[in-house]
Amino acid sequence: MKRWVLVCIWLLACLGAAAQSPQRGIALTDLKSGTAFMSADLRTLQSDDGLNPASLWWLQGERLWQQPATDGPACASCHGKEPGRLASMAAGFPRVTQSGAVLNLEAQINQCRTQQQKAPAWAYESEALLAISAWLAKSSRGEMQEGTRTAKMQLSQTASWQRGQAQYYQRIGQMNLACAQCHEQNWGRRLGGETMSQGHPVAYPAYRLEWQGMGSLHRRLRACFSGVRAEPPAFGSQALLDLEVFLAWRAGPLPLEAPGVRR
Ligand code: HEC
Ligand code: HEC
Repeated sequence: MKRWVLVCIWLLACLGAAAQSPQRGIALTDLKSGTAFMSADLRTLQSDDGLNPASLWWLQGERLWQQPATDGPACASCHGKEPGRLASMAAGFPRVTQSGAVLNLEAQINQCRTQQQKAPAWAYESEALLAISAWLAKSSRGEMQEGTRTAKMQLSQTASWQRGQAQYYQRIGQMNLACAQCHEQNWGRRLGGETMSQGHPVAYPAYRLEWQGMGSLHRRLRACFSGVRAEPPAFGSQALLDLEVFLAWRAGPLPLEAPGVRR
């Protein structure tokens, strides 16, 4: 084939891709994780593994990883012991399966728990689920691999993303505010003693001083619903899963920082 024909095909493909990729509320170059809006004290607490209070959970998670279930093998017997092999495990979630179902890290852990370990699922916000997700997240911190980054971008081609996006711009609650009004249009401004961030999910599960403990992303999202006096959707509900998918796409290439420390 002549070279110019190839160039034309390539150009058309690029134009097609550009037309398909949805508009971002915040330019890629302006993306900042919530850590950028925190006090220096909190940043130190987060970045020093010896000080980070979430270490109590991830150390517990590491123990759980190695420990066999009553009627099934340990996570480690199938997945290996070394953190090196775990890197990127957590960074690749949430995923949307072929059938359109959302699989977040918590759901994947419970899928292995029930199907591979023949053990009862761990409830949302149980110490065990927080511990093991904290440990997997910690092992996956840092730069995203190319494949993971592409997968994040492709989330926008799912129905879940579309529902999540619609929710993001929908005004809710007695305060009649949408997520976007705080996290897209007013980030960097003060609200009730806190600086509003861009609302990215990359630090979760996180240790929050207000909770005096760890919480999942869903717990944080529920707090935002309560904040605008809206009824918070249940943990693991389709509404929160769809938001999680939209948020993962929206955070783009921001690296995983979990387990974070928050006010
Ligand atoms: C009235 C303003 C307001 C609205 C509306 C709001 N939030 Fe928040 N949100 C906050 C504040 C304040 C925080 C805590 C400080 C911060 O990180 O921004 C927060 C935190 C977050 C965080 C954690 C960020 C981090 O780095 O710890 C996420 C994710 C988030 N919000 C998502 C959402 C979603 C999704 C919605 C819509 C369902 C929403 N928020 C609606 C004010 C709001
Ligand atoms: C008997 C073997 C076995 C055990 C035990 C097991 N898993 Fe898995 N795990 C798998 C298989 C097979 C897959 C890929 C298919 C799937 O998603 O179920 C997988 C996938 C995963 C993934 C996604 C990895 C990726 O990058 O795609 C995570 C995370 C995970 N398991 C966590 C756990 C945790 C946490 C435990 C312990 C509570 C556990 N697994 C126990 C076999 C196992």
